Amino acid sequence: MVSIDKLPNLSIIVAIAENNAIGKNNDLLCHISDDLKHFKSITSGHPVVMGRNTWNSLPRRPLPKRRNIVLTHDASFFENDVEVAHSIQQVFDLVSSEEESFIMGGAAIYKQFLPFASKLYITWIDKCFDADVFFPEIDFSLYSKISESERFYDEKSDVAFRYAEYMKNPSVNSNNKLNVLKYS
Ligand SMILES: NC(=O)c1ccc[n+]([C@@H]2O[C@H](COP(=O)([O-])OP(=O)(O)OC[C@H]3O[C@@H](n4cnc5c(N)ncnc54)[C@H](OP(=O)(O)O)[C@@H]3O)[C@@H](O)[C@H]2O)c1
Repeated sequence: MVSIDKLPNLSIIVAIAENNAIGKNNDLLCHISDDLKHFKSITSGHPVVMGRNTWNSLPRRPLPKRRNIVLTHDASFFENDVEVAHSIQQVFDLVSSEEESFIMGGAAIYKQFLPFASKLYITWIDKCFDADVFFPEIDFSLYSKISESERFYDEKSDVAFRYAEYMKNPSVNSNNKLNVLKYS
């Protein structure tokens, strides 16, 4: 059971394809160079929280200039310059004093943290992919879109994409504690 009075400021950052797909064979669906730069510029200087599978998938790790927090049930998991959490509550405790922390996947982690995130940074990829992991359904009635970019095209991956940001509505934020109880 998660028990805190005030949630840390958590944001989700994710690239989602048209069919809600986010990955296959423990890898991304496509590697859009501009999106990787976008991810770096938004998350640099902030903690990033990821599941162990996503950690294993990183070509370069830990991610530089960010606190890397890895969720695993494995008590023996150890990596240099990495903080380990064995529960959602431990993540909350680790980032409680941070201005903004980023939930960076994968599917299992997004599903558990979506109810607690106040902001969503989504890269919408205009293509359907064969995939084995998907982003959970988002109830957009809980959010307001605060920005949306123009549509870009990545030649190498042959995909069009755009960036959008959503903020959870204040009425929902004020019920954060309720959400904690509901989803614990
Ligand atoms: N499109 C995107 O933006 C994006 C971003 C990130 C990742 N991805 C993709 O997502 C896929 C990986 O997602 P996934 O769902 O397979 O794995 P994941 O969410 O990265 O990691 C799952 C693992 O995290 C640990 N875990 C989960 N919940 C936990 C909890 N409450 N307490 C402690 N440990 C917990 C467990 O590790 P143990 O088994 O060690 O206990 C679990 O097996 C890959 O294909 C990756 O490329 C896509």
